[in-house]
Amino acid sequence: MTKPIIAVVGATGAQGGGLVRSILADPDREFEVRAISRKTDSPAARELAAKGAAVVFGDLDDPASLERAFKGAHGLFAVTNFWEHFSPEREYSQAQNIVDAARRADVAHVVWSTLEDTRERVPLHDKRMPTLMQRYKVPHFDAKGEADALFRGLPTTLLRTSFYWDNLIHFGMGPRRGEEGSLIFLLPMGEHPLPGIAAVDIGACAFGIFKRGSRFIGQTVGIAGEHLTGSAMSAELSKVLGEPVRHVTMPHAVYAQLGFPGAEDLANMFQYKCDFNAEFRAQRPVALSRELHPGLLSFGQWLALHRDGLRASLQEKP
Ligand SMILES: NC(=O)c1ccc[n+]([C@@H]2O[C@H](COP(=O)([O-])OP(=O)(O)OC[C@H]3O[C@@H](n4cnc5c(N)ncnc54)[C@H](OP(=O)(O)O)[C@@H]3O)[C@@H](O)[C@H]2O)c1
Repeated sequence: MTKPIIAVVGATGAQGGGLVRSILADPDREFEVRAISRKTDSPAARELAAKGAAVVFGDLDDPASLERAFKGAHGLFAVTNFWEHFSPEREYSQAQNIVDAARRADVAHVVWSTLEDTRERVPLHDKRMPTLMQRYKVPHFDAKGEADALFRGLPTTLLRTSFYWDNLIHFGMGPRRGEEGSLIFLLPMGEHPLPGIAAVDIGACAFGIFKRGSRFIGQTVGIAGEHLTGSAMSAELSKVLGEPVRHVTMPHAVYAQLGFPGAEDLANMFQYKCDFNAEFRAQRPVALSRELHPGLLSFGQWLALHRDGLRASLQEKP
């Protein structure tokens, strides 16, 4: 008998890749997996094919390709990548393409990887954080959250993700040497806890959602591995790096001026996570995340697995 197929957008990336791996590692092999990529011949796509995924072409900017890629699928995991183009409008139009194609393909369960529309709590006229790109507060959050409404009428679970701990290695957010030679960890959260997660666990939680059939259809599910302050993260970093790491915080307006691409967007994001800390954390219960994925990593466990990557990223920094 043929098994239900889960089609995965972003299969060659962090979130979708975690889902593909979870489906393939499932001892029950309940689902087949279809990995969607624009570059079906890339090393990442070939690796997925070698592991047993069916790799098919699909481009979020090409609606016809999505319709072909989703055809016959039972489930669909969809994520958009803001950081590839920095355009919230393009992210929104890609979400529209996903919805249109999922509807035409009659997909039974969509998991949409999303984030809050921060403008619901901080309207554009609110001066406490600057408006960016004319109509956003946190562009990479707002467009995803605005797109949630497009999924109404489709059998969807809205999956609210958390800050990847992997950002400490791949996004330049890890510890660095301060002027006096000791390690500092910049996280502009003051003493507020930050919900974080191993990126690979996002896909694993999505798998837990698909495994539970219709239970989470029509619901918003937030996930996190742990909620930790910058000081608590620094204490764990000190242990794994074998030398003291000091947490440093910073006013959001100063962080916004650091000059790297997306600094203003991330400054507003961190401010939102501070100003609405209780609400933001309540949306991301660790207990439910662990129920969905019993192997959910703590920060300490994630660090132990990535000690070498973290050390290498330290050495690369000026
Ligand atoms: N970093 C964080 O802390 C964090 C936290 C929460 C949410 N997020 C969100 O996560 C998203 C990125 O997800 P990720 O980290 O899993 O991405 P990633 O590892 O950077 O990989 C991007 C994936 O998206 C696919 N993709 C991009 N554009 C596509 C298009 N036009 N058509 C088809 N596939 C496309 C790529 O596939 P191919 O290249 O193979 O086509 C690739 O698999 C961002 O929007 C970000 O806002 C990040």
